[in-house]
Amino acid sequence: MTLLNDDQVQSFINSGFIEISLPELDSVHAKVNSRLREVCAAESQLGNNVLPRIPLLQQVLRNEKIHGALVSLLGSDYLIHPHRAIHRSTPLREALDGFSLSSDRHLMGAGSTATSMWHQDAQSPLARARYHVPKFLIGFYFPHEVIAEMGPTRFLRASHCDNGPDLSRSIYQPEHVRAGTFFLAHFDIAHAGFPNVSNDDRFMLKFVFARTSQPAKPTWSNERDYWSVPSEDLVDAGLYEPAASFIWNRMRGKTNNEQGSESSKSRLSNRKVSKEKRLRLIYGEVEGLSVQDCVAAFKSVQGLKKHDRLHKNLRDSTPGHPVRWNERAVVMETAAYRLAFLGQESANTVCSLIKSNDPWLQVNAAFVAGEIGVSDDEFAPNLFDLLQSPYHQVVRQAIDAITFMKVDNHRRILRHLKDLVLHKRPGWQTPLVKRGWSASDQIDMNVAMFLLANCMQLEAQDLIDISSIMLQKSNDYSSLVVAEALVRSGDPIAQNHAIEYFKNRAWNTSLLGADRAY
Ligand SMILES: [Fe+2]
Repeated sequence: MTLLNDDQVQSFINSGFIEISLPELDSVHAKVNSRLREVCAAESQLGNNVLPRIPLLQQVLRNEKIHGALVSLLGSDYLIHPHRAIHRSTPLREALDGFSLSSDRHLMGAGSTATSMWHQDAQSPLARARYHVPKFLIGFYFPHEVIAEMGPTRFLRASHCDNGPDLSRSIYQPEHVRAGTFFLAHFDIAHAGFPNVSNDDRFMLKFVFARTSQPAKPTWSNERDYWSVPSEDLVDAGLYEPAASFIWNRMRGKTNNEQGSESSKSRLSNRKVSKEKRLRLIYGEVEGLSVQDCVAAFKSVQGLKKHDRLHKNLRDSTPGHPVRWNERAVVMETAAYRLAFLGQESANTVCSLIKSNDPWLQVNAAFVAGEIGVSDDEFAPNLFDLLQSPYHQVVRQAIDAITFMKVDNHRRILRHLKDLVLHKRPGWQTPLVKRGWSASDQIDMNVAMFLLANCMQLEAQDLIDISSIMLQKSNDYSSLVVAEALVRSGDPIAQNHAIEYFKNRAWNTSLLGADRAY
């Protein structure tokens, strides 16, 4: 495995993505490319199933550079998330009417599954929080050469901590993408496709990767402890430096109280990026919110029912609409990110937000608790109480938080989680999005991530008990993550349950004919 070095990790934090070239797999890329074209023409939109349909792709994902980059950025216990997508951009027959690098939304070729709209991805299929310290990554894999006319994907540099695309940020669009290039990006990077004016379809495969534990130490080839970006240009185009150095330190396993980084505080750029105002409130030394400011900010939104999504605006980052719960990805209150930055100093405030009984404040408090990641006598019991909230939004965020905390009392948590997966609340089973997922489905997914994160700490029998229920009652996303937890636990009986699950789903393509599937 080839781990990233300090420069590469800092470049990822600064820009929000890194580019990995895999010339050693040229013959694999060529085969993947032709298989993709064949299956898309003869079969269907494979979506999540592109990986089992083209198992050759595993050679790309398991390649030592890609695996090494994933370990570097997410830790050695990262998960290849079951969500994947094929983005196909077909040639546009109409003329490009003045569409430029920064333009938003253009007609794409007929049947395209790529968009030219600037956006941050939604979590699939239901929302999770937008985290600044990377918990999810997107892999953009281009199996074939992409020339400028095919419209390579555009990125807004350093947009990964923003709330919505900010076109005053610098735009990166490669003029040419070598076959087999893999862009590994922070999940929340703003990006857009570009119309394809060549004569060929352009394919891009999207993968998602997830962190399953808080960083405890650097997992890349780390030599220096301080944040530094080599040139003024990169500072100017990069992430607001105090935010970047905070993320760097967190990825090195440091809490903010023990950072003491030698980051050069003078190297703040004077650029005008409108979204940066928010980052200064979160990470700024002088402009940053105090704990009292945060308390006041939360008081001002208490009682506004921001835990309910608005059906007149289902998107998460529309200008003019303050942040609130939605089912794409949830941006928390600015004060919540600030409290997460302040760390242990926020503990009392987090507890009083939990006790406020306002579901939106509780969602934000759970987010902060998970980001701080330490469990003490004060935090843990309060968070456990949230697992019994009548609001699925609160329960979902509480499970996420507990997943990333070191907790002593696993039995008590498991009791609550088992109750959630076994006795699904009637009001939480209505589909919330077109793909049909209900709040209960997402609760199962979050529980599955908890089991994966804690599979080595749980008693094998406890893990098997709850997993057996989920393998019968939960959908395949959750079941796949549960099966992964059973495998990773190392317990032979647990592993047998996982093998049974995978055996029952092995896909057989032996009788696939030219014009008849299977
Ligand atoms: Fe996207």
